[in-house]
Amino acid sequence: MAFHLFKKDNGPRPIFAALGTDMHCHLIPAVDDGSKCTEESITCLQTLQAVGYKRVYITPHFCVPRFPNDEEDIQRRYAQLLRDAAEAGIEIEIAGIAGEYRLDRGFPDRLKNPHFLKINDRYILVELSLHEQMAGCDEMIFDLQTQGYEVILAHPERYPYLNIDGTRIEQLLNQSVYLQANVLSLGGFYGEEAKRRALTMIDRGWISFLGSDTHNTLYCQALRDLSRSRKIERLLEKHPFLNHTL
Ligand SMILES: [Fe+2]
Repeated sequence: MAFHLFKKDNGPRPIFAALGTDMHCHLIPAVDDGSKCTEESITCLQTLQAVGYKRVYITPHFCVPRFPNDEEDIQRRYAQLLRDAAEAGIEIEIAGIAGEYRLDRGFPDRLKNPHFLKINDRYILVELSLHEQMAGCDEMIFDLQTQGYEVILAHPERYPYLNIDGTRIEQLLNQSVYLQANVLSLGGFYGEEAKRRALTMIDRGWISFLGSDTHNTLYCQALRDLSRSRKIERLLEKHPFLNHTL
């Protein structure tokens, strides 16, 4: 009997080719809670490639006091990652370095002398506290916008205090804030509630971008698992996400 005919194929599938660009991951080694070493970053890049992404922006946290990160240092490490990725034969295009800026108590200081690492020289990726609403966020977003930045809010499904059935999200959308959900939320990686919230927001047409938010090899395994879902594949093809514009 040709047993291999019945063997289940557990390999990754390139379903994220439908998005093209991943615009959120933490693959500069040892600068935040992302990959710990070059080898892990390379493994993660290989995974992004295997599940179909063509381009990727690397987006380390800028967050006071946990990850204050100095831009010059980040740029230096990014340049090294580019060299290491080329040496390892990585084919996915590393399109740029941007920040994931936490709207925290240190952010107003950044706004006084604004210089941000942007996605596609246009968008600034921001995140909120995962635990509590911070006062003044709307003003910070407004200040960014008046300075000409287009704001993308990362993973709104992960902020339990952000009521998606109230008016808060619509208020953000009316304020021209783009929303980016995490692809792994769709598979339940952050729990059932985040999954339900992400799917609901996509269904309502509120989510403009999807990001992998890859931090390490644990995320890679989840991405490979998710890439075998026909349901997710259909969802990616059905919704007009804007990743391909980046
Ligand atoms: Fe992130």
